[in-house]
Amino acid sequence: MAFPTETVYGLGARGLHGSEVLRIFSAKGRPSGHPLILHVDGEQMARALALVWTEQASRLAQSFWPGPLTLVVPKAGVVPRAVTGGLESVGLRVPRHPVALALIRATGETLAAPSANAHMHVSPTTAEHVVRSLRDNVDLVLDAGPCAHGIESTVVDLSGDRPRVLRAGATRLEQLRTVVPEIAYEHGLQVAADSARASPGLASRHYAPRTRVILAEGERVATLANTEKESGIAVGVITWRKETRDACACLRLAHARDLPPDAERYAHELFAALHEADEAALDVLIIERVPDRSEWWAVADRIERASRAL
Ligand code: TXA
Ligand code: MG
Repeated sequence: MAFPTETVYGLGARGLHGSEVLRIFSAKGRPSGHPLILHVDGEQMARALALVWTEQASRLAQSFWPGPLTLVVPKAGVVPRAVTGGLESVGLRVPRHPVALALIRATGETLAAPSANAHMHVSPTTAEHVVRSLRDNVDLVLDAGPCAHGIESTVVDLSGDRPRVLRAGATRLEQLRTVVPEIAYEHGLQVAADSARASPGLASRHYAPRTRVILAEGERVATLANTEKESGIAVGVITWRKETRDACACLRLAHARDLPPDAERYAHELFAALHEADEAALDVLIIERVPDRSEWWAVADRIERASRAL
């Protein structure tokens, strides 16, 4: 069953039932080594699934839960290996969405849920995206409209020597550091798809639309779009600056989408824009680069991955 969260839609199963969890992997076509996040209704349920629950985990949980933050901690014995992809750690989060919380409370158990898209596809931010990506592999979608953030949770690993961000996401690093200043983050951290054990979300091409994507600086977008178009192929653009949008407008491209010049609002619309681009059956999609500033890192991470060929 797919359900809404404040980040993206999740494909859920009862997290302590290994056989149900395995169905998630087959529905998504996801390799069994990629760990799933367990969704809980509060810190108490999280503690029961963790072997070790540190002071840092408590502080982060109290400051950011419910919300788009996943904490990776050593797993308790009750957590099946199917959930963690064989790892000794488990990712836990409390979603800030009434439907997701109601579902956890109604089952009385933790829900394992990855984003509700086919493996390697763009995460779904509407129920329609879920159906389009998973088709017959999903039997029920709880539709609560578009997700508030539209980008996945930030994943912080607390199982090692030093806390570190494994995946940039909807909770910003500066916010996290107000609570745990020593959290490490390597911008652009990229692990080759086949060595992605530490966090498969780091696999280089994880957020890919089916369309070929090229990233370009604002000033180059229109020129590049024009060149590609003249070679006779269907070209689309995703822009965010007015200048770039205007320069592209006169080219009469097959597809043009302008996103807000604000990182949070941009993130909210990005995946929908990528889904749209796929629907438009383009040969190439040119995405305008975003600023190299921390509030844009989660977005930059998603579009860079989308542009990387396998
Ligand atoms: O916002 C979200 O996090 C959404 C909603 C549905 O909650 N879920 C989501 O799940 O994005 P998924 O499976 O698409 O991504 C989970 C991320 C992956 O990057 C995975 O590697 C990482 O969390 N992760 C989960 N458990 C982990 C673990 N034990 N160690 C390291 N990384 C882990
Ligand atoms: Mg995913």
